[in-house]
Amino acid sequence: MRVGLLTGGGDVPGLNAAIRAVVKRGVGQHGHHIIGFRNGWKGVVDGDIVPLTRSHIRNVLPIGGTLLGTARFHPHSAEDGMDAVLATVENEHVDALICIGGDGTLHAASKIAEAGVPIVAIPKTIDNDVWGTDASIGFDTAVTIATDAVDRIHTTAESHNRVMLVEVMGRHAGWIAAASGIAGGAEIVLAPEQPFDIDKIVRFLKHRHRAHASFSIIVVAEGAMPAEGTSMQYEMQLGQFGQIVAGGISERLKQEIEQRTGFDTRVTVLGHIQRGGTPTPTDRILASRFGVAAIDAVTRGETGVMTALRAGEVDLVPLADIAGKVKHVPQALLDVAAALA
Ligand code: F6P
Repeated sequence: MRVGLLTGGGDVPGLNAAIRAVVKRGVGQHGHHIIGFRNGWKGVVDGDIVPLTRSHIRNVLPIGGTLLGTARFHPHSAEDGMDAVLATVENEHVDALICIGGDGTLHAASKIAEAGVPIVAIPKTIDNDVWGTDASIGFDTAVTIATDAVDRIHTTAESHNRVMLVEVMGRHAGWIAAASGIAGGAEIVLAPEQPFDIDKIVRFLKHRHRAHASFSIIVVAEGAMPAEGTSMQYEMQLGQFGQIVAGGISERLKQEIEQRTGFDTRVTVLGHIQRGGTPTPTDRILASRFGVAAIDAVTRGETGVMTALRAGEVDLVPLADIAGKVKHVPQALLDVAAALA
């Protein structure tokens, strides 16, 4: 078989481990030819291919990013994009595609699967919000980085008697905020799932600083918002492509907290640091398992599916079931974060 492989959307640590697994298993055990497409769906549209042999994947396991490159590009939203994908699949004699991506890339995958191309998807996103899988590649590394940051913020917060806001990624879901907030011992976690009341935050901080502590750490997901009808109004700032402007909500919260409490407050925006560098062993293992499962599924002819981690096992879920859904942080996890304030 000739199998095309691409990585789309934002990069995450662990993508190279998944690419390596697809190539090792695909070439070594199934005898397939694997070709890579550069820069996600853009490479498929442009027919921008790169051969993927065992020599291309040597020593890539611990390296972050993606050796294929990636882009935020959706063929179904581009003029003639779908036709160009179908043309490349035919011209390059591609029997099946494996695409590694988050919500946008997977949405494109389901459209292309509907158009008749055999596809198996692999979920990756540091946001961990792909529906249908307990975990996506990259999340564990991002939580590790964010937790380390919260640990480091602790010592400087305490020395200076400050309120420290640590902003983490998470547009629609606060998985990184909840996980790093619990693991790092933050006093408050603000997630998109649970709009906040600034008055409650201020009351909590005043009480805590009067009663037993001189510092506080608040982990803020970039998509966190004040609850409607509360005393803080905020309009989310969006960039050219609809992305959240990093630091927007945290800078605003800093002003509100300083004005209302008088406590010295600082903001740290972790940004793309959360997506960089060496993947954790957990992400390398997950990516390797997903890579092997994806190429095995392609070989069996089981397509139109996504590899998923479910109760510790790797499973396949129909792509059609995933499109348009977001896996939100459950209330129970947010409750644990709140209980440990
Ligand atoms: O979707 C993953 C993510 O890292 C989000 O958490 C973040 O909002 C966005 O990507 C940033 O995108 P970009 O790399 O395009 O700035």
